[in-house]
Amino acid sequence: MRMADEAEESVPALRYEERPDGPAVVLLDQTRLPAEEVELVCTDVPGLVGAIRSLAVRGAPLLGIAGGYGVALAAARGDDVAEAAGRLAQARPTAVNLAYGARRVEAAYEAVLRAGEGEAAAAVRALEEARALHREDAEACARMIGHGFALLDEFAPGRSLRLLTHCNTGSLVTGGQGTALGVVKEVHRAGRLRWLWVDETRPLWQGARLTAWEASRAGMAYSVLADSAAGSLFAAGEVDAVLVGADRIAADGSVANKVGTYPLAVLAAHHGVPFVVVAPVTTVDPATPSGAGIEVEQRPGGEVTELTGLPSVGAREPGAVGGAGFALAPVGAPAYNPAFDVTPPELVTALVTEQGVLRPVTGEGIAELCSTSRGE
Ligand code: MRU
Repeated sequence: MRMADEAEESVPALRYEERPDGPAVVLLDQTRLPAEEVELVCTDVPGLVGAIRSLAVRGAPLLGIAGGYGVALAAARGDDVAEAAGRLAQARPTAVNLAYGARRVEAAYEAVLRAGEGEAAAAVRALEEARALHREDAEACARMIGHGFALLDEFAPGRSLRLLTHCNTGSLVTGGQGTALGVVKEVHRAGRLRWLWVDETRPLWQGARLTAWEASRAGMAYSVLADSAAGSLFAAGEVDAVLVGADRIAADGSVANKVGTYPLAVLAAHHGVPFVVVAPVTTVDPATPSGAGIEVEQRPGGEVTELTGLPSVGAREPGAVGGAGFALAPVGAPAYNPAFDVTPPELVTALVTEQGVLRPVTGEGIAELCSTSRGE
C-alpha cells in the first residue's frame, strides 16, 4: 500500500535518456505546471542551461542532479567537458547543489582521462556518477523524511499538525519524495496532517502552482494563501510548525531559501512556532563562511511587475524569461526581485539532514555535519 502511494505521488521530474537522435536530459517543464504536463528535451548543454535559467528545472537538489547529467551529456556528445561544467555550475548562483553536481561529475570524467582510459570510457564513467548522484539524493530524501517525521512527533507527540510551507520542495525538485514537502507527505500518510498551508510564493508561484499540484496529487487537505496572509495565520494560532527547504547553508548555519522564507522565520520566532529547515548535506557550503557571503540571484523585474514569467499564468513561449505579460505596475516600473533571502541560524529551530537533526543550528554543528559526511 505504502509503495503504491509513493509511486502515485512520485513525479518523473528529470531523466537521462538515450534517444534515436542521441542522448538527452528530459525534464518535466515546471514552467507549464499545473496547466500542462509537458516534457522538455535538452539535447545539449546550452539547452539545459536555458531550462535552468527559465526554471523549467529548479530547486536545489534537482539542480544538482541536472548539473551532473548535463556534464554527462556533454561528455557523451564529445563536447568540451570542462567548459560545459563551468557553464552549468554558473547557470544560477545561489543553490550550491548545482555547482556541486556539475563539478562532481566533471571530476569523475577527468579521473578516467588521467588514468589514460580515453574519452569514451570517461563519458561512461560520467554518466555512472550522475546516476549515483541521482540515486543518493533519493536515498537522502528517505532518511530526511524519517528524521523530520520523528522531530515533529517530538514537538507534538501523537497529535495531528497544521504545517506551513513555502516554495516547492517535493518530488518535483529531488530524486525522491522531497525534503520539507517529503516530510509533510509522511505526516499525511501517517494520518496526522490536519492542514497544509501553502504559501503562494511570489513572484513565480512555486507554492500555488507546484506545491499545490503535489499536495492535491497526494490527497492532502491544504489551502493556498497569499504570502502576506501568513502573519494573520500565526496570530490566529493556526500553524504548528513551518517546514522549508534550502538552496545554500553557510558555515555559520545561515540558510538561503526562496524569498519570503526569512519573514516566515521571524513570524515563527515571534509566535513560538518551530521553524524547521530540511535539506541534504549537499546543500551545506562550508566554503561560504556566513549568510552575508551567499550570492543571492537577482531576477528580471518583469517577474514582479507583470503577471507573467510563466506560460501557465500568461501567454508565453516555453523557456522565456521576463517581459511581455499582463501589466501589474505602470509600464517601466522599477522592481526589486531577489530570488532568495537569508535566514540567520538563531531563527532556525532545527536543521534536518539525511544524517539527523541539528538543534540548535550552530557553526560547530555545521562543521561536524560536514566532517561526518566526508567520513572524517
Ligand atoms: O528559484 P527556485 O524555484 O529554484 O527556488 C527553489 C527553492 O527556493 C527551494 O525551496 C529550495 O531549492 C529547496 S528544494 C528542495
